[in-house]
Amino acid sequence: MVRLVWKNKTDITPNIEFLKKEYSNNFNRFEHVSNLNHSQTQLFPINPESKYDKWRNKLFYGDNLEVSCYLLNFLEKKIDLIYIDPPFFSGVNYRMKIKDNDLNYDIIAYHDHWDKDIDSYLQMLYERIILFKKLLSNTGLIFIHLDWHASHYIKLILDEVFGQNRFINNITWHYYNKYSAAKKNLPRAHDDILVYSKSKNYTFNEIRIPRKKPKKQLKRKMVNGVLKNAKDENGHVMYRIVTDKKMDDVWKIPCMQPASKEWTGFPTQKHHDLLERIIQLGTNEGDIVADFFCGSGTSLVTAEKLNRKWIGCDISEYSIYLTRKRIINFQKNNQNRSKPFFPFDIYTDLTHERNKIIKTGFFKKELIIERK
Ligand SMILES: C[S@@+](CC[C@H](N)C(=O)[O-])C[C@H]1O[C@@H](n2cnc3c(N)ncnc32)[C@H](O)[C@@H]1O
Repeated sequence: MVRLVWKNKTDITPNIEFLKKEYSNNFNRFEHVSNLNHSQTQLFPINPESKYDKWRNKLFYGDNLEVSCYLLNFLEKKIDLIYIDPPFFSGVNYRMKIKDNDLNYDIIAYHDHWDKDIDSYLQMLYERIILFKKLLSNTGLIFIHLDWHASHYIKLILDEVFGQNRFINNITWHYYNKYSAAKKNLPRAHDDILVYSKSKNYTFNEIRIPRKKPKKQLKRKMVNGVLKNAKDENGHVMYRIVTDKKMDDVWKIPCMQPASKEWTGFPTQKHHDLLERIIQLGTNEGDIVADFFCGSGTSLVTAEKLNRKWIGCDISEYSIYLTRKRIINFQKNNQNRSKPFFPFDIYTDLTHERNKIIKTGFFKKELIIERK
């Protein structure tokens, strides 16, 4: 079998039991959001007894390696779908312009520079993919969103960790509305979403999408296990008009534009329609969806909308700020829906720096993010 090798490649599998113990008590709840009465509550760890029956959605502010090790103590083989949209090894740090009362400032929303060090990048994702596989249920799917910078390497890593025969699809997200200044190459207009399953037996719901124009098609029927043209009593073939078709692996969905009412200002925010397809394809109502690089929380808001349970994680306070705000606004704007919302809690490993951020009321501020 072909294997990818890089400098200092290390398989963390032998250390997982140690890491699980190491992080078993590190995360504490610092906010509980229930029925929109969100309040700062006392810090206390997740109660393992209440993890499953009285489900509460969870947003983690921290490094997803530590969060995954922590979660393995409670949710090993319990997550039904993992979607991740990690940094792509683009060589760029993504910035946002913020207005906080009278203060205007520029921040790095997230880092993707890496100083051309592909080895560290690959090791970072390799470790996490190993941990995510352990968290995934036996009927689960993982969706890894990348582009031309590294998807070819990560596919080999997925073949190694999940097995070549667990490859399901390489979805091409074709965004047709992104400006390109390219002169010496064709405009790059797609991302890759690699899909792998944990076992042969995985959740997969067929999705049908509308056709541009209705199509006249021969009516077919099964005769002794063979598909044949259906005929009327005079022996004539029969037709039907079809207005939809099976969704294939090339998805034409636009990039988010600042003019959209869903736009949060977070750079590289993904389109909610993309996440809607992914979640519908790989889960049913009540299933658990996790996104360990959640950014502005697109996947989590979509899970909320589709009545899935969710777990989110991000290392940046701006991501947690936006995700928290989006979920609260979504719940506020949909208070009359028939299905109740699960309450959600925000957890962190309370370092001195994070404690300072929380204590200044950062998450409840009214920040304005420039739309550019
Ligand atoms: C491409 S963005 C995700 C965008 C998101 N899909 C959306 O629609 O807004 C990648 C995110 O990964 C986060 N990230 C990078 N390294 C991380 C780590 N080790 N742990 C947790 N989050 C991380 C960054 O802070 C950033 O928000």
